[in-house]
Amino acid sequence: MPARIPAGSIALWRTQSGRVTASADRCPHRGMRLSHGFVRGEALSCIYHGWSYGQTGECLRIPAHPGLTPPETIRVAAHAVEEAWGVIWVAVGETTAEPPRFEGFVPLRSLTAHADLATLKAATGATAGTAGLDWPAPGAPEIRLLSVPQEGYETLIHVLVPGDSSPAQRIAASRAAETLRRTAEDIQAKGLAPWSTTR
Ligand code: FES
Repeated sequence: MPARIPAGSIALWRTQSGRVTASADRCPHRGMRLSHGFVRGEALSCIYHGWSYGQTGECLRIPAHPGLTPPETIRVAAHAVEEAWGVIWVAVGETTAEPPRFEGFVPLRSLTAHADLATLKAATGATAGTAGLDWPAPGAPEIRLLSVPQEGYETLIHVLVPGDSSPAQRIAASRAAETLRRTAEDIQAKGLAPWSTTR
């Protein structure tokens, strides 16, 4: 699947054995997006001419030249990945610290807001910490939000709730997140946030 990190677009893929890999989303051959490709076993294959790549970015196979061992210079940039408590973390550059742990929480849903992070904070009164946005949502005080800036003014929001939440609490958390999105988008559209700029 395609995803975005501060270093740019990535193809996030899971091998048959279950390992998650984050590759730059550009095939070194002709530049096709690797997120359009497909996984076979432990490799990701480009949809265009079928070149396939391993988890550390090395080119494994060029179908048009089946007898050729691809040179080591043909590589895709790969980022370090950690998966914990249902959240996939992708490192940009060298990893200097462990990602935050959300022990006891489970991912509920993800949604995209047409608003930047500053506007989201203005809409919620949330504070940002190393463990995501701390937001005592009305009716769902245990909710945790993880925000991932996208292109332009979009922000991807991952909603996490305690694993022992009841169905009613999950519905409340989901609705609270939707209300948050609407409020933030209204503020962004009206340019009410003092730090928002025009498109
Ligand atoms: S563009 Fe990817 S294999 Fe040709």
